[in-house]
Amino acid sequence: MGFNRQLLETALKSGIWYNYLPSSLHIFDSVSSTNQILWDLLKNGADKNSIVIATQQTAGKGQWGRQWISPTGGLYLSVGIVPKLEATDSYRLTLASAWGIAAQLRQWCISVGIKWPNDLVLHGRKLGGILTETKVHNGQIIQAVIGVGINWANPVPDTGINLQSWQASQPHKAISCLEILTSTVLLGIKSGIDCLCQEGVSVLLSRYLDLLTNIGEQVYINNLLGTVVGVTSQGKLCVSFNTDDTNEIKTPEIYMEPGTISLGYRESSVLL
Ligand code: BTN
Repeated sequence: MGFNRQLLETALKSGIWYNYLPSSLHIFDSVSSTNQILWDLLKNGADKNSIVIATQQTAGKGQWGRQWISPTGGLYLSVGIVPKLEATDSYRLTLASAWGIAAQLRQWCISVGIKWPNDLVLHGRKLGGILTETKVHNGQIIQAVIGVGINWANPVPDTGINLQSWQASQPHKAISCLEILTSTVLLGIKSGIDCLCQEGVSVLLSRYLDLLTNIGEQVYINNLLGTVVGVTSQGKLCVSFNTDDTNEIKTPEIYMEPGTISLGYRESSVLL
C-alpha cells in the first residue's frame, strides 16, 4: 500500500506544522535512497528544507558505508536543513535528531532509547537509525541531509524490532499508521534541531545522555576493560578505565570516534 500524502499532511497540520508547505514534501514509491534523491533535488534548486519520503529504497544507505535494507513497510525519509554549524560539529545533528525522535516517540508511551551513536532502540533491539550527510564550504556546513529509517511493518533481523508488531502486543494502541509515525519523526527531528540551535549543545547533550542506554556498559578497548561514562559534544564515546597499580594505562578516560567501536546488540562490544 502506498504512502497517503493527505493523511500525513493532516497529521502535520494538527501539530506545529500548521503552516507547512506541501510543495517541499516529495513522496515517492520507490527510490534508490531518500538521502541521495534529496541531494539530487537540492542540486536542481529544490528548497533547502525539502523532505523526501519513500515507500521503499533499492539502495538505502546506512552508517559506515553499510546497506540499509529497505522493503515496503518501513519508514524511509530525509530532511534538508541549513544549520549554522562548523563541519567539525556535524555529529551534533545526529545527536539532536536521535534525541528528538526518541523523545517524540516516548510521548506516545513507546519507551525508545538511544544506542550510541545513532541507533533508536526498543527493548534492546534496533528500531531505527539515522544517517546525516553534509556539504561543507570553508569549514562550515552549508547543507545537511538527515536520513531516518524506522522499522514499522517491515521484516527485521533478530537484533531488530518493528514498531507495528510490538504495538500489537501492547494493551494500548499508540501510533496507528505509517503517516502518523512519519509526522512524529519529522516533529522529532525539528524539536531536536531546535533544541540544539536555540538551547545549545549542553542542554541537548544532557537530554541525549538521559536516553542513552549505554551508560555503565562495559567495553573492551585494546584488551582493557572500560566503562561507558558519556558522550562528548562532538559525538565521541567517553570510556573510563580503573587506574590501579596493575593497570598501565595513563589516561583514565578515552574518547572513541563514532564508527571506531561498535557497542553491538547481543554480543560484547568489538573494535571495528
Ligand atoms: C544506520 O546505519 O543505522 C542509519 C540508517 C539510516 C537509513 C535511512 S533510510 C532513509 C535515509 N536514506 C538512506 O539511504 N538512508 C537513510
